[in-house]
Amino acid sequence: MDSIVVRGGNKLIGDVYISGAKNAALPIMASAILSDKELVLENIPNLTDITTMISLLENIGVECKSSNGRMLLNAKHINSVEAPYDIVRKMRASIWVLGPLVGRFGEAKVSFPGGCALGARQVDLHIAGLEAMGARIEIDHGYIIASAKNGLVGAHFTFDKVSVGATINLIMAAVLAKGDTTLSNVAREPEIIDLCHCLIGMGAKIENIGADTLHITGVPSLNAHRYSVIPDRIEAGTYMVASAITNGNLCIKNIKYEMVENLANKLIEVGIQLEESHHGIYVKGNGRFDSVDISTMPYPGFSTDLQAQYMALMTLGRGTAIVTENIFENRFMHVPELCRMGANITISGNNAIIRGADHLVGAEVMASDLRASVSLILAGLAAQGETKVRRIYHLDRGYESLEEKLRACGAEIQRIKGDAA
Ligand code: UD1
Repeated sequence: MDSIVVRGGNKLIGDVYISGAKNAALPIMASAILSDKELVLENIPNLTDITTMISLLENIGVECKSSNGRMLLNAKHINSVEAPYDIVRKMRASIWVLGPLVGRFGEAKVSFPGGCALGARQVDLHIAGLEAMGARIEIDHGYIIASAKNGLVGAHFTFDKVSVGATINLIMAAVLAKGDTTLSNVAREPEIIDLCHCLIGMGAKIENIGADTLHITGVPSLNAHRYSVIPDRIEAGTYMVASAITNGNLCIKNIKYEMVENLANKLIEVGIQLEESHHGIYVKGNGRFDSVDISTMPYPGFSTDLQAQYMALMTLGRGTAIVTENIFENRFMHVPELCRMGANITISGNNAIIRGADHLVGAEVMASDLRASVSLILAGLAAQGETKVRRIYHLDRGYESLEEKLRACGAEIQRIKGDAA
């Protein structure tokens, strides 16, 4: 397994170009299943989660060709409706083949998902929504087996909890269902809106995009389409924190301010300078910064996917900050590792209380999930001496060319191949 070694202390200065959004690309790739015509995608990041989705799609017969961020998908000849455990266990987003498979073929067999270990992460809402649309669901030997022999039918379904994954699955299931579907209390993340825009381009009828109730009118089939995926706001936010924590001066390119506004507001509040121009978003650290609380919420609230990175910043804040995690029950796995680097953090329920330290020190730490891993890299960039982050395969799932992008701005960072686990 590879490790990353960071020697901290360098201010990051320069430009960072943001890649396509993983969390938009994955559901949009799955949506190719809905059509027997070609879907051409652009701005697809080069990540292992994308490779996993390609394996999953190829396994059921979708033709996938990709190079340099461009991908051609064609689901004309599907030969299986099964998503096997061996692929699904690598990535929770694999569950997104469920909705489109039942939607187009009236059947699917999908293994219960894996992915980052962030607590229970049930799929009850995905299942309840499909049942509301007429699917029969059985759970057998770790598989979700869905069937709707005469096709899905439009329904009114209210999510009793806001779920990104379940919203995505049900939107994709509804676009080919007979009649109208109303989905209430949906998640409204920009990646979901991006999926809706791509589906509309393919011929789907979706109204009220961006609101908390969506109306979808089923259509018999979808068309060929070409679509460019939005940039990754979580990657952008991560580099914004990288600039802040190193007292650096980075220009974050290829991202709109409104996509990172929530984090931007917090950074301004703690004392980081931000400036938006036609070149990008400039993030400039100026010595020490204050400690300010955050509380993760569904979009447009503060993203849980930026919680670990923001916490890394707060370990050096001037004062005490409370970080409250409201989305996932087990998303503080970075805390003990940050403490190994000299951070002063105590956990009480879903609150982490972070008392700002004078400095962090390099240490050997273990990556546990995607965003936790990157928070350790961020801490390492600011720490005195060398930090070695082990088990970094999670990083390759979600950050394109992380070391190259950081190195280009002055970080001392290198990957050690095949290092011990
Ligand atoms: C997606 C994102 C992930 C992000 C998360 C929240 C991708 C690939 N992943 O994950 O990066 O952190 O949204 O913004 O885009 N829940 C249920 N029942 C369900 C489904 C979810 O109880 O059927 C719960 C989960 O356990 C969790 C909460 O709802 O506590 C939110 O989960 P959800 O929004 O579904 O997250 P994911 O789609 O897994």
